[in-house]
Amino acid sequence: MDVQELACTACHSGPMFNGPKTPMGQGFLMLFPTYTNNKYVAEYHLMAHRGRYRVTPNPADKHMWVVPSWRDVALRAPYFNNGSVDTLSQAVRVMARVRLDKKRTTVQVRDIVAFLDTLIGRLSRQTVPRLPVTLNAALPMGRE
Ligand code: HEC
Repeated sequence: MDVQELACTACHSGPMFNGPKTPMGQGFLMLFPTYTNNKYVAEYHLMAHRGRYRVTPNPADKHMWVVPSWRDVALRAPYFNNGSVDTLSQAVRVMARVRLDKKRTTVQVRDIVAFLDTLIGRLSRQTVPRLPVTLNAALPMGRE
């Protein structure tokens, strides 16, 4: 059972694992949590903040959150919008339950966390090429 079979990548997709490309300044918003009748929602106060609704306030934005990237996620504890979950393995368990209504075994959680651990790293450096200098082109006008 991996992140694709589990449909995690329905949201955490693309090169940054944070969904499809969106216009500059926007994110890919998704409902969180979806399944609220479980122990995690109460334990971690996942309904306490209403997400984007607080700023719009459009009812369709209730509990809508930007899907965070999985890149370097292992370095970003604590998790979720309120920082209520301390470990990545617990965040994976919570996510499977509140978004997909699935309970994960310890082995499955360990496998997913092992995969997320591989996403720590540096993005490749991109530089703008320097154009060759054209002789005399930089001389101020009228100085020949
Ligand atoms: C329907 C969309 C959706 C699906 C499916 C989904 N996620 Fe998420 N995920 C989100 C959103 C939205 C958040 C942000 C919630 C918040 O900020 O409180 C999130 C947050 C997370 C976080 C915490 C990241 C952080 O920086 O706090 C982890 C880890 C994570 N998801 C892993 C998974 C795993 C593993 C699966 C599959 C079991 C999964 N997600 C399935 C939408 C989704």
